Amino acid sequence: MSHQPPATTPQRSNPRSTPHFVLRRTAVIGFAIVCMLALLVFVIRSSGRSPAAAVNQADVTNVQLVAQGRQLYQTRCASCHGSDLAGEAGWPQRHANGVMPAPPLDERGTTWQRDDQWIFTTIKHGGQVTAPAGTISYMPALGTGLTDQEIWAVVSYIKSTWPESVRDLQPKTSE
Ligand code: HEC
Repeated sequence: MSHQPPATTPQRSNPRSTPHFVLRRTAVIGFAIVCMLALLVFVIRSSGRSPAAAVNQADVTNVQLVAQGRQLYQTRCASCHGSDLAGEAGWPQRHANGVMPAPPLDERGTTWQRDDQWIFTTIKHGGQVTAPAGTISYMPALGTGLTDQEIWAVVSYIKSTWPESVRDLQPKTSE
């Protein structure tokens, strides 16, 4: 007559090495590794991101924003406004057709008499948008080539060249 052996697995002396425990430990360690990798990816990605991301206003105290603006100014604006912001040669003499040349953007000009939003709009949508009615502006709209954040960086750079006394005089709003 056959006698079946008991169905239960014999208990091992060390419960820490049971297959169930080993499986659970592997899962916990695996989960921890995945978490650490995710954290690593997050840290690397956020450190690589522009520190000025999501900026929606000018900030002369933001060193990185001003530096970004200086660089953008040299590549996108200096050809007309001068690498030292002194304006186009001949300013303030109008062109023969009556249109104004590019003015200085530092304190030698009158841009500081405009509020930040006016300056931003002029850069983004072009001088024609903010020009007095009946005048022609040669200031191009740069909104398709620059993001809003990049435009704020340029505005920050321009403002950073103004002496503090001039910045204090700048209107806060267009009213
Ligand atoms: C193709 C030449 C050209 C380029 C490039 C250019 N501008 Fe101008 N900009 C002008 C001219 C011309 C005017 C004057 C318009 C007028 O007064 O009718 C002007 C006017 C302005 C004004 C108004 C200034 C004021 O006090 O009235 C601002 C601000 C300005 N530009 C900023 C910029 C910035 C910032 C860039 C680069 C991102 C830039 N411009 C690139 C030609 C240019």
